[in-house]
Amino acid sequence: MFEVAILGFGTVGSGVAEVIDRNQKQLLREIPEGVHVKYILDLRDFPDSPYNDRVVHDIDIILNDPEIRVICETMGGKEPAFTFSKKALEKGISVVTSNKELVDSLGGTLAVIAKEHDCSYLFEASVGGGIPILRPLRTSFAQEFITSVTGILNGTTNYILTKMETEGLDFEEALKQAQDNGYAERNPEADIEGYDPCRKIAILASLVTGGNVKYQQVPCEGISRIDKQDLAYAKSLGRAVKLLGVCRHDEETNEVYVRTAPYMVQEGHPLYSVNDVFNGILVHGNMVGDLMFYGSGAGKLPTASAVVSDMVECIQNMGRNIDIGLKNTDAVLEDPEEYCERYFIRTGEEDKDRIAELFGDAIEYVTAPASGEIAFVTDMISCRSMKEKTAKLSAFKKAIRLL
Ligand SMILES: NC(=O)c1ccc[n+]([C@@H]2O[C@H](COP(=O)([O-])OP(=O)(O)OC[C@H]3O[C@@H](n4cnc5c(N)ncnc54)[C@H](OP(=O)(O)O)[C@@H]3O)[C@@H](O)[C@H]2O)c1
Repeated sequence: MFEVAILGFGTVGSGVAEVIDRNQKQLLREIPEGVHVKYILDLRDFPDSPYNDRVVHDIDIILNDPEIRVICETMGGKEPAFTFSKKALEKGISVVTSNKELVDSLGGTLAVIAKEHDCSYLFEASVGGGIPILRPLRTSFAQEFITSVTGILNGTTNYILTKMETEGLDFEEALKQAQDNGYAERNPEADIEGYDPCRKIAILASLVTGGNVKYQQVPCEGISRIDKQDLAYAKSLGRAVKLLGVCRHDEETNEVYVRTAPYMVQEGHPLYSVNDVFNGILVHGNMVGDLMFYGSGAGKLPTASAVVSDMVECIQNMGRNIDIGLKNTDAVLEDPEEYCERYFIRTGEEDKDRIAELFGDAIEYVTAPASGEIAFVTDMISCRSMKEKTAKLSAFKKAIRLL
């Protein structure tokens, strides 16, 4: 048996143990000796769990056991996850993880340490949960220049927006439903303010460019300011509001534009019909064109399945490093203020005369479901220009990007 250890026996960690046990037959096709969980590190004991006899509370028991050559880190957070992962990699033990916070902040550092010690640091589950996206980017797209990645990367916010759209709920009502159904945390800030998808698009942008993009460098806006009327406007435009992570990679300059924000997505676009808790990621390669990845972006077993897929790859590549293309250098970021997009804009009727003066003729008015308002769609303009012009509107309400 190939012995592995799990650090953190919560939702994902316990799912990893379950995937390994329930699908041992499937694993035997890839790993003929089989895979066995020898240790589980957690702060607590689990007296009701059949795995309780494998629970330890001291990381050194795991790190000093020569039988352990792959560790799965599903504790979450930066510390002690970073220190434990670093120590393991320095001993030549491969580490697989679902921990997007650690991957985004220190993934490049850990990837370099893994390379120096002929082992691997893989994190398929940190983006898109159960959806295979990082491995395809690394393998199937090896011959491609990836020009863009656009994703619905957070199931909770997608569920809220779907409920608002299909059932006409207010944001607060839809959020409550998401919490009652266990999709949103009691403190939903990381989801609704966009921090979670922001980390994920930062990881994707890092892999696409080969340089580090930290989520703090990515402009981030969530959905807490989206209301029912925005969705009604979107519908009248043949669009739906989606929270997107966007990464555009310039083939000539190698610069990358990265953003997380709500967008009005045109009907017929592959991401338009990604609803409820599902995630969807659209990748464009300069040769292959568009490819769409769709599935469960979170949840115990889908996420654990992705962690175990990394484990299998590490076991099959024992003694050598799987190069994930992540270096310890920074990506060159395009100034997001200068990037041009089309905007949907809502303002008060009193701005009627100023609109044409500021935005010119190339705008398209939208019939306003809300009384006392004017709404219109701009031509392609930079974010800076949009901000400068809307600052001159006396009753400006909001701007939402178009895709
Ligand atoms: N849940 C999902 O669907 C999902 C999807 C994709 C990615 N992720 C990511 O996967 C990671 C794990 O998520 P999760 O939902 O499984 O979290 P979780 O349910 O809170 O599990 C984390 C486990 O690690 C334990 N732990 C925390 N600090 C520890 C330490 N110092 N030593 C040993 N054990 C420690 C926790 O123990 P205590 O409970 O006692 O603190 C808990 O049992 C996070 O980075 C998350 O963002 C989760």
